Amino acid sequence: MSMIKACLFDLDGVVVDTAKYHYVAWKELANELGFEFTEEHNERLKGVSRMTSLDILLEIGGVELSDAEKEAMAQKKNDHYVSLISKMTPDEILPGVEAFFQTIKEAGLKIALGSASKNAPTILKQINMEHYFDAIVDGNSITNAKPDPEVFLRGAELVGVDPSECVVFEDAQAGVEAAKAGGMFCIGVGEESVLKQADFVIATFNEMSLERLSF
Ligand code: BG6
Ligand code: MG
Repeated sequence: MSMIKACLFDLDGVVVDTAKYHYVAWKELANELGFEFTEEHNERLKGVSRMTSLDILLEIGGVELSDAEKEAMAQKKNDHYVSLISKMTPDEILPGVEAFFQTIKEAGLKIALGSASKNAPTILKQINMEHYFDAIVDGNSITNAKPDPEVFLRGAELVGVDPSECVVFEDAQAGVEAAKAGGMFCIGVGEESVLKQADFVIATFNEMSLERLSF
């Protein structure tokens, strides 16, 4: 039986549903550039870094921009996104998440964040969950984006736990790949058909318990 000593959490799509805010901000930018951006398109941006998201969006619209123009567009989108997330409240924490955090904290497990977002500290503050984390690794502190395992390996290192004793919770394919590349057990949050590489998949944290971390 495994000895799980740390849980590593992705943020967007696992702890909170921020994809809807990213969507609003990216859609406005696309419309300004003269093309439509659908929710289906938005799926492709999940777990992907800000600049890579912009590249995907521009490819969808068939728009080519200089690096300076791209920087300006990313900045504009982010300003809009920040104004949206600055209104978030703890009510937006996804079902079962906080109860599970309390359970693992009481059991003495370490908790780390492994997010691609540079806005992770703002979001954690808005939902009042910073105090649960023993380590925070986000888009401000990593050089290699998921599916590279850097974000999770750094998290494991910071909490002093071997990757083989860590569980990663992820909602994006790139994130699941990152966890597996780092040699970690990975629990997908979402749909099994999308998160095929995960060791198992839950729809919400209401399905999680300490017992399910013993495999
Ligand atoms: C990830 C999101 O967590 O963070 C992506 O799933 C997003 O959709 C990425 O693009 C970067 O976020 P930010 O806040 O730094 O623009
Ligand atoms: Mg995510």
